[in-house]
Amino acid sequence: MKLTILGGGGFRVPLVYGALLRDTHDVRVDEVALHDVDAARLDAVAHILAQLGEGRPEAPTVTATTSLDEALEGADFVFSAIRVGGLDGRTADERVALDLGMLGQETTGPGGLAYGLRTIPVALDVAERVRRLAPDAWVINFTNPAGMITQAMQGVLRDRVVGICDSPIGLGRRAARALGYAPEQTRFGYAGLNHLGWLQTLVVDGRDVLPTLLESPERLLGIEEGRLFGPDWLATIGAIPNEYLYYYYFTRDAVAAIRGSAETRGEFLLDSQTAFYEKVCAAPDSALALWTAARRNRDETYMAEARSEGEARDETDMGEGGYEGVALAIMGAIARGERASMILNVRNRGGLVGLPDDAVVEVPCTVDASGPVPLVPTQLTGHPLGLVQQVKAVEELAIEAAITGSPTIALEAFALHPLVDSVTTAEALLTGYRARIPSLDQVFR
Ligand code: G6P
Ligand code: MN
Repeated sequence: MKLTILGGGGFRVPLVYGALLRDTHDVRVDEVALHDVDAARLDAVAHILAQLGEGRPEAPTVTATTSLDEALEGADFVFSAIRVGGLDGRTADERVALDLGMLGQETTGPGGLAYGLRTIPVALDVAERVRRLAPDAWVINFTNPAGMITQAMQGVLRDRVVGICDSPIGLGRRAARALGYAPEQTRFGYAGLNHLGWLQTLVVDGRDVLPTLLESPERLLGIEEGRLFGPDWLATIGAIPNEYLYYYYFTRDAVAAIRGSAETRGEFLLDSQTAFYEKVCAAPDSALALWTAARRNRDETYMAEARSEGEARDETDMGEGGYEGVALAIMGAIARGERASMILNVRNRGGLVGLPDDAVVEVPCTVDASGPVPLVPTQLTGHPLGLVQQVKAVEELAIEAAITGSPTIALEAFALHPLVDSVTTAEALLTGYRARIPSLDQVFR
C-alpha cells in the first residue's frame, strides 16, 4: 500500500514511519511518499527515516517530492499534517490575540480561527486533487484546527476524510489507569468537538466507574487533567474535560501565564525547530540522534503554560505515542478489516442531538473495512452542549468565510467566538491578522 504524507518535512513524520516499521502484517504500507513545500525539510526528514530503517530490508521505501500531484498519484492513504504559514504564522496567531488581551493559542480561540481561515483554501485544493488522482484513498487529517479542516474537506470528499487527534485517547487512558484498569478494558464515553470534548463516563463491564474517580482527589491529582483543572472543579462539573478546555475554564490564568513568559509556544518552536533543521542540514549523518533529542525537548515543554512551575510531564504520557498509534490503527482497521474502536472526527449523522447532521464531531467510532462509523455517543447537555453549539456555529462561519472570501462573515466568526468579548475586538483581530499574515489576507482578495 502507498501512504502519502502531506507535510512530509514535518517534525512528527518519523513517529509515523517508526510505527510503520513495527507493523509486521502481510497487508501493510510498503511505500511512503513525502510531500512538502520546503525541499530542505523534506531532505532532513528523509535522512531521519533512512536512519530509522537502516538494516531493515522490509522497511517501506521512501520518496520525497515537492510536487503534490506526483505524491498523491495512486495513494491508498493520505495523511495530511500541514502548517499553512509555517511557525511564523503560528506566532502571529498567538501574538495578535495576546496583544489585544485575549488568548493566543494555536487551535483554540481567535488564533485557531486565523489558522483555520488560511488553511481551508489549501485543504480544499488538496481534497480536489485527491478526488482526481487518488479517488479511492482515505484521507486522515491531522491538520489543525482538525475539526474545522476535516469538515471543510468533507465538502469535497465526504466520509473519505477522517480527522484525528491524540488528546482524547490520552485522556481516556489516563482516567482508566488512575483507577487501575487497563485502557482496553474500558469504554470511553467521550463526546464533543476536536479540542473541545468531555469524558462523561468510563464504562467497565457495563458499569460507569467515572464517579469513583471524580470522588478521589488523590487519584485525580495523579493525572494531568486532575492537576490542570483541580479535583474540586472536576467534581463540580461531573466530567473530565479535554486538556484544551483549560483555555475556556481558566482563560485569564492561561492568558496571564502566556503573556508572563518570555516567549509563546510558537516562538519557542520557531527558534528551536529552525535550529534543529539547520543542524540536520549541516550534519545529516547525525539526523536521527538530533531528532531524538529535539523530540524529547518538544514533548517535555508541551502546554507548559497550563502546568505549575517545575511540574514535569508524565513519562508514560510522553512515551505513549498517541499520534502515530491512532494513525496506524485506523489504517489497519480499514485495510485489513480489523474492527477497532477509536475516538475520531467524523460527520455527526444525528448522533449528537443539538448539532447539525453534517457537523464534524469528535466521538467514539467503530472502524472496519468500510471506514469509521460513529457509535451512539454519550449526549451533551447543559454548558458543554451550549459551548459546542456556539463553537460549531463559529467554525461553520469560518468555513463559509474562507470559501466565499467574505470579510463580513469572517468578522462574524471572530465576534461570536466565546473567547472574544466584543465586536470591536473582533474587528481589531481581523485587521491585525490580515496585516501580519499574508496567506490569511489573500483569502479575502
Ligand atoms: C497535541 C494536539 C495537537 C497539537 C499539538 C501541539 O498533540 O493534539 O493537535 O498540534 O499538541 O504540540 P506542539 O508541540 O506543536 O505545541
Ligand atoms: Mn489535536
